[in-house]
Amino acid sequence: MLLLSSKDVESLLEIEKLPAIIEDCFRAYATGQAVMPPKVYLDLPEYKGDFRAMPAYLKGACGLKWVCVYPHNPQNYGLPAIIGLLIYSDPATGMPLAIMEASSLTSYRTAAASAVATRYLANPEAKTLGMVGCGIQARDHIKILAEELSFDCIYLYDINPAKAIELKQLFPHLPIKTTFLEETCRADILCTLTPARKPIIQKRFIRPGTHINAIGADASGKQELDIEILKQARIFVDDVKQSTHAGEINVAISSGVLIKEDIAGTLGEVIAGKLPGRQTKDEITVFDSTGLAIQDIALAAYLYERAIKHRTGLEVELF
Ligand SMILES: NC(=O)c1ccc[n+]([C@@H]2O[C@H](COP(=O)([O-])OP(=O)(O)OC[C@H]3O[C@@H](n4cnc5c(N)ncnc54)[C@H](O)[C@@H]3O)[C@@H](O)[C@H]2O)c1
Repeated sequence: MLLLSSKDVESLLEIEKLPAIIEDCFRAYATGQAVMPPKVYLDLPEYKGDFRAMPAYLKGACGLKWVCVYPHNPQNYGLPAIIGLLIYSDPATGMPLAIMEASSLTSYRTAAASAVATRYLANPEAKTLGMVGCGIQARDHIKILAEELSFDCIYLYDINPAKAIELKQLFPHLPIKTTFLEETCRADILCTLTPARKPIIQKRFIRPGTHINAIGADASGKQELDIEILKQARIFVDDVKQSTHAGEINVAISSGVLIKEDIAGTLGEVIAGKLPGRQTKDEITVFDSTGLAIQDIALAAYLYERAIKHRTGLEVELF
C-alpha cells in the first residue's frame, strides 16, 4: 500500500489536466456511471467544526475521504481550515491501495469544478474575475482559473485585508488588484470562498450576466449570497440532495423561499448535453458547489496511477 504525503500529491498534480478529469466525472455521474451515497456529517459544535465521511465509486475506482472543516484553525492554531485523508481501495478485492493526504486534493478538485462550471455557464467574453475570501480555496481557484482563461483583472477582497495582500503576492505575474467588496462583485465571474453564515454579497452588487461560483457554503446553515440573487439567477448545483441540504441554497430552501423546482439542474446534466447551460448574455448564473466524493475519487485514481508510474510515495506493508 502506498502512503502519499501532501508533498507527493503536490508533485504529482498537473494543474492543467484537472478540469478535464473533473468534467469527465460530472458526466459519468449524470449518466449513471458512479455510485455516491450522501455525505455523512459529524457535527462538533463544541469545537466549532465538523467532520465529513465521503465514499464513492467511479469507473473502477473507489474510496473514502475523511475530511474536517475547522474555520478557526488558521487564526487559532496556524493550521488549515480543511484537513483531509483519503483511503483509496481496490474495488475488486477491497484491499487498500493507497492512503493519501487529501487537503490539497480537496481544494484542487473544488477549483477544477469551478473551472468546469465557468466554462459551461459564464459569458464566453468574460474578462474579469472576483474572489471574495482569500484563503486556500481562493489560492487554488486562481491557479486553475488563470490557467484556463486570460483575465484583464482579478479582484481580491477579504474581510482581513492582509489575506488579500498575501494572496496577491503569490501571483506576481497576474493582473491582480486588492479592493473593496463592491468592486470585487462587479467582476464578470465571481467566486465566493468564505465560511460565512450570513449573506455577504448583496443583490445590488451583482451586474446582469455575472456567473457566480458559490463555494463557501458546504454545510447546513452556511450562506454567502443574498437570497434575492438566488431568486433571480439560474441555479445549477453539483448534486441536488447535497445542495438543498448543505449548499448555498440550503437556507433559502429550508426557509421556503426557494423550492427544488427553482434549481435549473445539475452541472453534470449540462455537461452531458441533457440541459442547456447559459441561455442569454444577461442572465445571472450560479454554480452551487458542495463538493462531491466522486471528484475526490477521480483525482485519487489519477494520483495513484501517476504515483505508481513515477515511483512516488512510501510503500507500507499494512497486511
Ligand atoms: N464547495 C466545496 O466543494 C468546498 C470545498 C472546500 C472548501 N469549501 C468551503 O470554502 C470555504 C473556504 O475554505 P478555505 O479552505 O479557503 O478557508 P480559509 O480559512 O483558508 O479561507 C477563508 C477566507 O475567508 C475570509 N473570510 C471569512 N469571512 C469573510 C467575510 N465575511 N468576507 C470576506 N472574507 C471572509 C477569511 O478571512 C479567510 O481568508 C469554507 O467555508 C469551506 O468549508 C467548500
